[in-house]
Amino acid sequence: MRKKQAEDGENGMQTVKVFNVAMIYDEAGAGAPPLLLVHGFPLNREMWAPQLEGLAGLTRLVAPDLPGFGDTPMWAGEMWMNILAEALNEFMNRIDARPAVLCGMSMGGYLALAYYRIHADHLAGLILASTRAAPDTPEAAQNREKTAQLAREEGARPVVENMLPKLLAPATYRQNSELVDQVRASMLKTSPAGIAAASLAMKARADSRPTLPLIELPTLVIHGAEDQIVPVKEAEAMAHSIPTARFERIPDAGHLANLEQPEAWNAAVRRFYEQSFGVQLRGQL
Ligand code: MLT
Repeated sequence: MRKKQAEDGENGMQTVKVFNVAMIYDEAGAGAPPLLLVHGFPLNREMWAPQLEGLAGLTRLVAPDLPGFGDTPMWAGEMWMNILAEALNEFMNRIDARPAVLCGMSMGGYLALAYYRIHADHLAGLILASTRAAPDTPEAAQNREKTAQLAREEGARPVVENMLPKLLAPATYRQNSELVDQVRASMLKTSPAGIAAASLAMKARADSRPTLPLIELPTLVIHGAEDQIVPVKEAEAMAHSIPTARFERIPDAGHLANLEQPEAWNAAVRRFYEQSFGVQLRGQL
């Protein structure tokens, strides 16, 4: 999923201290507005490898590991969406990436909507990928508690094995064993503490539905047609509630649409950049 990265190079893996935690991120490309890619749960920045490769000619791309995920250590304090939004804001400030287009995948989308409520003035646009605005149902909230407990007691593996078949479209899961293995290995890097804290943060997240009609920035809602975690119809309805949104359905893709169909996914982002900001992929003018 990830190309070999240079250590602390101009393009590649880098580190910045945010709220006393060394946040690790990958960076590629150049241009504005920068595209900040925030991973889902229990993933990390590795999930954006096809975007760092395929969209580097479009703009500056930045993909951080949130605290407790990938190579960023868990922080000592509590984890809530609003605190993560403040950490993300500080991160963007420290690396001079504001105003950005904030792209959040699933949990990253919950965070993007929380960020929008606090710091919309630091954004140029939003990409809501494989995500939803509604809060957890009572059943989902109960499952968060179970996930947190399972991670604390038995580590990341049982959580990862439970989630893996739901993250990909059924055909991808059956036919693309290389991708399945890559996603598994990547998710197993998540710290049990990160899984537990993020589960409870997702459980406690605000209902973002009232935010949707207030969004004034260019917004792309992008979703796999076969997403088993967030049904595509729900994402389409979310897009209809955002006055400025365009909706892109990615065929033959599940929850990890950007990994399953990277070319279609990247093409949708290119269209969004061109129509919203007049920015085109270099070499395609
Ligand atoms: C994710 O991909 O981030 C998760 O599926 C989000 C969730 O569990 O609600």
